Amino acid sequence: MRDKGRFPHFMIKEIFEQPQAVRDTITDNLSPKTGRVELAVTRRIPRDASSTFKKITIAASGTSRHAGIAGSYMIEELSGIPVDVEYASEFEYGNPITGPEYLTIVITQSGETADTLGAQRLAQTRGSRVLAITNVLDSTIAREADAVIHTQAGPEISIASTKAFGAQLVALYLLAVYLGETRGTLSDEKVSQVVKELLALPDRIEKVLAQNDLCEQLAKRYYKMDDFLYIGRNVHYPIALDGALKLKETSYIHAEGYPAGEIKHGPYALIDEQVPVVGIATRDLSDPQSVLRAERTINNLREVKETGGRVIAVATEGDSEVADVAHHVITVPKAPELLSPILEIVPLQMLAYHIAVHRGVDVDRPRNLVKSVTME
Ligand code: BG6
Repeated sequence: MRDKGRFPHFMIKEIFEQPQAVRDTITDNLSPKTGRVELAVTRRIPRDASSTFKKITIAASGTSRHAGIAGSYMIEELSGIPVDVEYASEFEYGNPITGPEYLTIVITQSGETADTLGAQRLAQTRGSRVLAITNVLDSTIAREADAVIHTQAGPEISIASTKAFGAQLVALYLLAVYLGETRGTLSDEKVSQVVKELLALPDRIEKVLAQNDLCEQLAKRYYKMDDFLYIGRNVHYPIALDGALKLKETSYIHAEGYPAGEIKHGPYALIDEQVPVVGIATRDLSDPQSVLRAERTINNLREVKETGGRVIAVATEGDSEVADVAHHVITVPKAPELLSPILEIVPLQMLAYHIAVHRGVDVDRPRNLVKSVTME
């Protein structure tokens, strides 16, 4: 995995390794006998404790924090445990309310990010158990955590995190299902259903990867732009954040992620034909809340288009309504609301990659950035 193989850059290779990273992370945390979620948590947090935490705080940096935000929606929805998400650097220098009845989760691809290590150590000095979700099992954060979920993404070389992000989202979803089971908020039938949807993910990611050429065409059209806006609601909002961060990190373009409903309060002033707006407007037709959120986001995109902005939408395949409000549509396969983010981020990763290539940037080693910030 430390070789680019048939790919010109590690970033695009790692984007294409996501089906395997997701498949391996799922397999590592499912019981082959029962097909149920059985977290391969090293140094377990006692099961009874899992049912007593009164709150979860997630602390992370960069892309890993975006995974944490998506994970907070998954955990709250499936287990009913309230979740707060903090920048690790803010948590570490704040005065966080935490203790034995709180679970702290740190998310880190490298397991060496100084801010995240600082947050973990602060939480532990205040009596909180810490669960680390990391891609490097023999890292400092993994060694010091009370328990670890290991994302099975394999070595991630490109500075911009892609496959590790997908594996983090899957790990958080599996954790949410586990917590739901231990707290009795998920029926056996629901658990069996979500496991089936999880197992279908790798093939669905492959279908999204098949739109790599479309993303390259869009990159050719928009790589000279200086500003981008990304918008999404609820569990799709952190995907807007990470799509924007991917573009920022790899292309040096100013890009911002916003909750879709928030663009009326300020960002609208930015909209003109020079500011493409990427909108995540997928919908899970079996979830009325998801359908309502998508309708609101479609309205936002309609207003952007009417205002003269350029709209690139990510939509669920078969959804013809989005085509009316967007200049370009990238589709993802149908999936449950809480699993869609794992599919939606893929076109945004490919778009950022191709724009960076067209701008002649050193895609795997963008200026001023490092893979892991081990010094504060
Ligand atoms: C930054 C990387 O330095 O650190 C980001 O450029 C990454 O891609 C962030 O998301 C956090 O790193 P880690 O290893 O703690 O997930």
